[in-house]
Parts: sequence; C-alpha cells; structure tokens
Amino acid sequence: MKDLRSFSYPIVAPSILAADKSALLEEIKKAERFGAKYLHIDIMDGIFVPATSFSLDVLQKIHDQHHLLNDVHIMIADPLHDAEKYALAGADNVTFHYEACQKKEDVHETIRRIHQAGARAGLSIKPATPVSVLKDFLEEVDLILLMSVEPGKGGQKFIPESLNRLDEITALLAPLPNRPIIEIDGGINQETAKLSLAHGAEALVAGSYLFGHPDMEERLKEMLR
Ligand code: DX5
Ligand code: ZN
Repeated sequence: MKDLRSFSYPIVAPSILAADKSALLEEIKKAERFGAKYLHIDIMDGIFVPATSFSLDVLQKIHDQHHLLNDVHIMIADPLHDAEKYALAGADNVTFHYEACQKKEDVHETIRRIHQAGARAGLSIKPATPVSVLKDFLEEVDLILLMSVEPGKGGQKFIPESLNRLDEITALLAPLPNRPIIEIDGGINQETAKLSLAHGAEALVAGSYLFGHPDMEERLKEMLR
C-alpha cells in the first residue's frame, strides 16, 4: 500500500487512458522507469460520463504489477455505493466526483467508506462547479482533483480559468495543518504543467501528452522542470 501523504511533491501521474491498451503493462513500466510517481487510472461508467473506460477487473489485474501509487479516478454515477469496491480492488487512492453525490452527507459517507476500506480519498470537481463546495470536506479528504477539462475523454484543451480555480483552492487550504494534495487533470502538457505548478498544483495528470510519444521520458521530466 502506498500513501500519498508520504510523497514529496510535485509529481507526475500518467493517465493510462491514453496508453496502448494492447501493451498496457509495458506502458505502465515505461511510466515507472521514466520517473512517474502515481499511476492515474480513469474509471468511466457510461452514465456519469458518456464513455466507458477501465473497469474494476482491470484495476484488480494491474494494481500489483508495478510500483506506482494506484491513483483511481472514478467518473461513476453512484460513488456512495461503489467507491469502496475500488479501494478493495487495489486502489491506494480513490477520487470520486462531488457532482455524482445526491447530498452533502453522501460525500462525507463516501469518504468514510473509502477510508474504512483502507485507501486515501480524493474529491473531484468539474470545471463548472464552484470551488467553494469543497469547503465542507477539506479536513476529511486527502486529495482535491481539479478537472481542467470536462471529464469523460482525453486529448481536450486545458481551460485557462482553471488557474484561477487553483488559486482559490490554494487559498482555501492554506490555513489547514494537514491539508490535502492538489491534483489537476485534463489538457496538461509542458506549458500548462508549468502554469499549474505555479498556481499550486502538486500532482499533474497527463495522458495524451505522454503516451504514444517516443520522447515520453523527456516530456515527463520536462513537466517538473
Ligand atoms: C478525463 C480523464 C483524464 C484524461 C486526461 O476525463 O479524467 O485523466 O486521461 O487526458 P489528457 O491528459 O489527454 O487531457
Ligand atoms: Zn482522470
């Protein structure tokens, strides 16, 4: 079990949504060799987002085949009932969506269930959700995932307003003694990585910028330079 609270930041979290699925383990090993720290695994149910991607069985198969932190981003409609399954299937961190919860109490309860299943818990917000909704959960949650594109697919363009949202999150977290990690996801490349880091992001998710490029190693290293 890896604990995101004990890492030193910033780090890169390659998103295997963009990896070659026919050679998934080799792709993961490459990310590991090139200095990634998290492995970002996107779960989509075709309901919360239109597309489907990886499912529980893929996580079960791959989670112990590498040494990266299994950072599982669940874009699913019913995190209250399903989030803990991912923790039990090998996720070190399970990040679910605020927008997928019916009420505030469900967010608290989902965090509690993920923790009880032995994983860290992350809370994600989509581009149109006000940052202020996070306020009630900052002392419970281990990670905040700011979506810098609409969740559901890779290869989209970074929404510039995300930088102001990172500033807002940074300000919210500043007074906390045990503050959650700030992760950003969507449209991250060398340029948007730099900007995001300057605005307080600590974990940078990148899919299409990394996978499928012969200079992946250089790209990964450049993101943190
Ligand atoms: C999108 C996913 C992302 C996706 C990012 O909903 O959550 O993790 O893989 O892809 P890129 O880096 O191509 O924007
Ligand atoms: Zn993601």
